[in-house]
Amino acid sequence: MAYLIGIDVGTSSTKAILIEQDGRVVKTVAPEYEFQTPKPLWAESDPADWWAATIDAIKALLEDIDASQVAGLGLTGQMHGLVCLDKAGEVLRPCIMWNDQRTAAQCLEMTTRIGEDDVISITGNPILPGFTAPKIRWVEENEPEVFERIDKVLLPKDYIRYKLSGEFFTDVSDASGTSLLDVQQRRWARYILNEFKWPESWLPEVTESPVASTRLSASAASLTGLRDGLPIIAGGGDQAAQAVGCGIVREGVISATLGTSGVVFAHSDEYRVEPKGRLHAFCHAVPGKWHLMGVMLSAGGAYQWYRNQLCKDAVSSEKETGTDAYELLNEEAAKAPPGCEGLLFLPYLSGERTPYPDPNARGSFVGLSLRHTRAHMTRSVLEGVSFGLNDSLELMRSMGIAPENIVLSGGGANSPLWRQMLADVFDTNCSMVNATEGAAYGAALLAGVGAGVYPSVEEACDRAISTTLDVEPGDNVPCYADFFPRYRNLYPALRFEFEQMADTLQAHAQGRWFTQD
Ligand code: XUL
Repeated sequence: MAYLIGIDVGTSSTKAILIEQDGRVVKTVAPEYEFQTPKPLWAESDPADWWAATIDAIKALLEDIDASQVAGLGLTGQMHGLVCLDKAGEVLRPCIMWNDQRTAAQCLEMTTRIGEDDVISITGNPILPGFTAPKIRWVEENEPEVFERIDKVLLPKDYIRYKLSGEFFTDVSDASGTSLLDVQQRRWARYILNEFKWPESWLPEVTESPVASTRLSASAASLTGLRDGLPIIAGGGDQAAQAVGCGIVREGVISATLGTSGVVFAHSDEYRVEPKGRLHAFCHAVPGKWHLMGVMLSAGGAYQWYRNQLCKDAVSSEKETGTDAYELLNEEAAKAPPGCEGLLFLPYLSGERTPYPDPNARGSFVGLSLRHTRAHMTRSVLEGVSFGLNDSLELMRSMGIAPENIVLSGGGANSPLWRQMLADVFDTNCSMVNATEGAAYGAALLAGVGAGVYPSVEEACDRAISTTLDVEPGDNVPCYADFFPRYRNLYPALRFEFEQMADTLQAHAQGRWFTQD
């Protein structure tokens, strides 16, 4: 029996999973670390923390098994991050992460220089503040001493590959989020690199996801306990790997993931682009296939913020009684009526990406009255996030994608209340699958394909993944159909005020006080 390992270099932890070739999970570990927000809009992480966590995690996985039985290791991780290395392979500055929003000016300048239509036709997407290329431009403009020393530009999981193998490779799905990949042709976009005079030699070689691109070095073998020469599989960006990990590998199959961020993900046999670039059009981790994706920056993250800031009693009660604070809040939310008597929540706590790529967008409760209780507020957070996911689904529907079923995953999907709410808001059957370990699990399946354990990604999913639970749309469908348009009209109504507020805050931060209308 061969074992497979998946490593997910995440935002707050590196999750590692050990599975048997039939898909059974043997062990998971997730050593944690913190990321830094040294300035408003910034989010940075130290790659040394990921590497230390990776070594610890692999050692923990190998505690009870014979390491020579591991057939392959697959990598996944947070997408879009910028890791810059010098000629000696040393990290030049902390990674600028996917949730960093500092590059609005660079996005605008790059888009103007290349032309909006060309950007979308080459990279499949607009250049967005979270993506990698505008971060390179930011370093060029703001940290020239760092920029001059750049020799390699890597995504987070590919930095770990470099530490494991000494070699530079990436995969098409993760590379899709750099704004430097020709997503249709599945190769680096020379036109964009040339425009900014960034050498292609900075970028790693790009392969399909289930490819054994490198092998474990002797030094990494002695640090981790894995065997020297173990195949390291290219893997995928965390969303593509997450999709593989819950079986989203065929046309017509869609997933909605409620993690810190919220993602609606549709497999696509063909390369297609939402005309205004409002959905991400990326290569999938299935060779020769693509995916469309809507990303909300704060989904479960909005609920977490709400719990921590406004429900400290539930958090204390969890400490005293052991009952999960979210469970207590979900019970409370269930007592409020659907639609929350007109209370709506906008979940844009860290700005937003889909359908409004706007770093200035902010969270809001709209429609509060004296009748509202905390139960209403709690339910409206869940409803607001569900409406936000439905925004992405509506964009997919407008492109002719009509899912018969949506696979739910991520921590939020463990709540029966939230699952039913999603089926009602989407007005579509939802289901859950036996594989609940997310991107790391997908990376392990990809490792199995690369190591020759499974013949294809589809076959790997068929062997390992099955449906465990179905949720049908219920009585609240008409109610949510009434409230969704109300939710949808709020961002356009507030957009200008969000922008004005960002300007006002900036002026105040710079000590400039002014009054204007
Ligand atoms: C995807 C995205 C997030 C990050 C962090 O576009 O930004 O999924 O990869 O998980």
